[in-house]
Amino acid sequence: MRLVILGAPGAGKGTQAAILSEKLQVPHISTGDIFRSNIKNETPLGILAKQYIDSGSLVPDEVTIGIVKDRLAEPDCKNGFILDGFPRTIQQADSLDKMLGELGTKLDKAVDIYARDDVIIRRLSGRRVCPECTAIYHINSSEHARKGICGNCGAKLIQREDDSEETVKNRLKTYHLQTEPLISYYKGKGLLVQVQGEGSPADTTAEVYQVLGLTE
Ligand code: AP5
Ligand code: MG
Repeated sequence: MRLVILGAPGAGKGTQAAILSEKLQVPHISTGDIFRSNIKNETPLGILAKQYIDSGSLVPDEVTIGIVKDRLAEPDCKNGFILDGFPRTIQQADSLDKMLGELGTKLDKAVDIYARDDVIIRRLSGRRVCPECTAIYHINSSEHARKGICGNCGAKLIQREDDSEETVKNRLKTYHLQTEPLISYYKGKGLLVQVQGEGSPADTTAEVYQVLGLTE
């Protein structure tokens, strides 16, 4: 399956994409994770991306599109992929269409996870992430998060620098202005499915499976 996961910051894209990647045995491609790994390794891409990410704005399209194009051309994407956090602008979505056309394939669905801004602002202060394996936790639902140790790899969990309340508010502004129009874009193409992201992660997964016709 070739899927795009849409949704505001903190809606649960990464959480659901990781579950779907395991279930469908296709790679989980998160542009945010790619940028964070480059920031950690202090690569030229990381140095460039950091200024945009820290302010809650988007990394320029030409940079992001090039990264995704290279990633989708890798052999492990042949049987499908889950794109998490890309596309985020109409230009990125048009480029994705073109890239897939050149590869002789197309998207199956765009899954939009919906959550209100006030839910997201409250939620993101409790997120903890693993800087080594990118696992995602929440202090309300995870003992690993409360202890601060990754359940997958044992690394010390951190809070993302862009999860401060002020940056979250900027990320939400950027989302509404630049990314939300993609909901109509994919609706127009007949690819949009929507799920509620305000319940528990398991409730959202059940809805995602249902809209994609997957069995538990
Ligand atoms: P990115 O890393 O993609 O961040 P984001 O879009 O802001 O989304 P998040 O990762 O914060 O949230 P999520 O939806 O994945 O939620 P999660 O599953 O973690 O991008 C970061 C930055 O990189 C951007 O701001 C931008 O600068 C740049 N960038 C990235 N892609 C780009 C692109 N294409 N173009 C340009 N720039 C780009 O869940 C959140 C928390 O809630 C967790 O703690 C989780 O445990 C919990 N949770 C999850 N689901 C539920 C649920 N249903 N109920 C309760 N809690 C839940
Ligand atoms: Mg994410």
